[in-house]
Amino acid sequence: MKLGRVLILGAQGQLGVELQREFADYADVVAMGREGCDLSRPETIPGAIAESEPEIILNAAAYTAVDRAESEPDLANRVNGEAPGVLAEEAKRRNALLVHYSTDYVFDGTKQGTWVESDKTNPLNVYGASKLLGEQNIAASGARHLIFRTSWVYSPHGQNFLRTMLRLGAERDQLRIVDNQFGAPTTALALARATRQVLEHPWSPKHAGIYHMTCGGETSWCGFAKAIFEKSAPPTGKSWPAVTGIPDTEYPTPARRPENSRLSNDRLKRSFGVELPSWRIALEETLGRL
Ligand SMILES: NC(=O)c1ccc[n+]([C@@H]2O[C@H](COP(=O)([O-])OP(=O)(O)OC[C@H]3O[C@@H](n4cnc5c(N)ncnc54)[C@H](OP(=O)(O)O)[C@@H]3O)[C@@H](O)[C@H]2O)c1
Repeated sequence: MKLGRVLILGAQGQLGVELQREFADYADVVAMGREGCDLSRPETIPGAIAESEPEIILNAAAYTAVDRAESEPDLANRVNGEAPGVLAEEAKRRNALLVHYSTDYVFDGTKQGTWVESDKTNPLNVYGASKLLGEQNIAASGARHLIFRTSWVYSPHGQNFLRTMLRLGAERDQLRIVDNQFGAPTTALALARATRQVLEHPWSPKHAGIYHMTCGGETSWCGFAKAIFEKSAPPTGKSWPAVTGIPDTEYPTPARRPENSRLSNDRLKRSFGVELPSWRIALEETLGRL
């Protein structure tokens, strides 16, 4: 199915790269990085979009440095909060569909069980608050929109937990990894594929809104690290380090993170019949692409 002109923002990010690959055969893709559309200068967005005349805008650009955001709240809020609102206004003016990505960090992690889309948000850190502002500005615009909240994103490239573990694992004999935060590691590839599958559905106004979109299952960061080492071969002449679980109180970071980041994907499945693979299957797929 051909989707028309699709503008991908954040083209060089983990998700942006996979969206470009996934949509190449299904749409007329225009991909822009920061140099084409700088979200820290929201006033330049309308001009940047005008050139490509998109029918669909996939916004994979974001300020994603969760700890640094604590000391750069204005920049995080401009890129993650204000800019998505401007994108949505532009989408509305052009009757384009805006697809945007948000985060499990809009929640405070205190719920027992999985979070559903209508649960009360209460971000614990600046990044989460800036992403929540982006969601709110998009919803208020009246534009046709889909917001996919996801978690613990990684891919074969970019800065992510998988690549950090493989690097540290090659250097150290022991690793202490946080074992009291729970969520679903999600590959950029699975997100891109699911996004395309959703967009194959004909649009109906009842579809607009927020959907949780993560790989299936759950684990802790420590469980994720152990699975990475179980499924990959160590460097020649070396074995992988012993991995010990620790509470996050023993690994202080500038930004607080929620303990329970487990998102329910039921609404996505019910509305579009789309389901992502389990995080273990997706991990194997990504390791195979390294
Ligand atoms: N990574 C995660 O664990 C995670 C978890 C939950 C939700 N999400 C959400 O998922 C989406 C995709 O994340 P990702 O993991 O693909 O992030 P990523 O790899 O960090 O990519 C983000 C992209 O945004 C670009 N960007 C940053 N500031 C910009 C600006 N001012 N103007 C234009 N582009 C800018 C970056 O460009 P440069 O390369 O030039 O910096 C980068 O290419 C984001 O909405 C993110 O909030 C991510």
